[in-house]
Amino acid sequence: MTAEQPDSRSRSRSRSPSSVAQSFYTRWATLYDALARRAPGVGSVRTEAADALALSPGETVVEMGCGTGANLPYLAERVGPEGTVVGVDFSPGVLDVARERTREYPNVHLVRADATRPPVARELAESPDAVLATFVSGMFDDPAAVVSSWADLVGPGGRLCLVDLAETTDPRWRPLNPAFRALVRVTAPPGSRTMRASPTKMLNRRLVAAHRALESRCRVTHETTHALGFARVRAGAVE
Ligand SMILES: C[S@@+](CC[C@H](N)C(=O)[O-])C[C@H]1O[C@@H](n2cnc3c(N)ncnc32)[C@H](O)[C@@H]1O
Repeated sequence: MTAEQPDSRSRSRSRSPSSVAQSFYTRWATLYDALARRAPGVGSVRTEAADALALSPGETVVEMGCGTGANLPYLAERVGPEGTVVGVDFSPGVLDVARERTREYPNVHLVRADATRPPVARELAESPDAVLATFVSGMFDDPAAVVSSWADLVGPGGRLCLVDLAETTDPRWRPLNPAFRALVRVTAPPGSRTMRASPTKMLNRRLVAAHRALESRCRVTHETTHALGFARVRAGAVE
């Protein structure tokens, strides 16, 4: 399988937010992987997200912004050996970890590409049945357009599931929002940290835009919050 690669010459000439994010996730891939798998409660959110896609054996599922591949074994188990899992990410460092993690799954394919313009349909010569994106929508300039393009990719009856973090709206836990804002500030890729607008406000706005786009394109089948209201899982079937 070939992959669309961002142009390395233009990458070195300019430091766009996307190239900063790629360097950031490549540099911190090992540390991110530990967090992605061991943070309290994250395993059950990943199980729930994979279940919410209602995958059947033999289906094809794409994970956009798959990072170090923490979700990929969950997806591979659900589609079985006759199904296909494609992980898409633009950061080479995280894909190396994902490749190692999925070595024993011949039906898991990793593609270095931009999840906002995924080459998946062309690569697989078929439309995927489902798309998963966890903790990624907050990184897109126009998450509504991206989610809508994923709905087009899977087509009617295809499933989408988003998992994202934002400030909690649960009145019991709102006092923890300042701590969440501090955490976002130190863990966000450098480009988003130095922006005049608060990175948390941007995250909140992008989560709402992405999840509204899912609601507008899908019959919603699953909606839950986790981690004191900081994590939202939303899934649906495209109408
Ligand atoms: C916070 S990590 C989440 C990784 C994984 N989904 C998880 O749940 O652990 C965000 C990932 O999205 C990737 N990413 C962000 N924007 C992307 C884009 N436009 N195309 C491809 N990957 C992207 C980053 O490289 C990073 O690996």
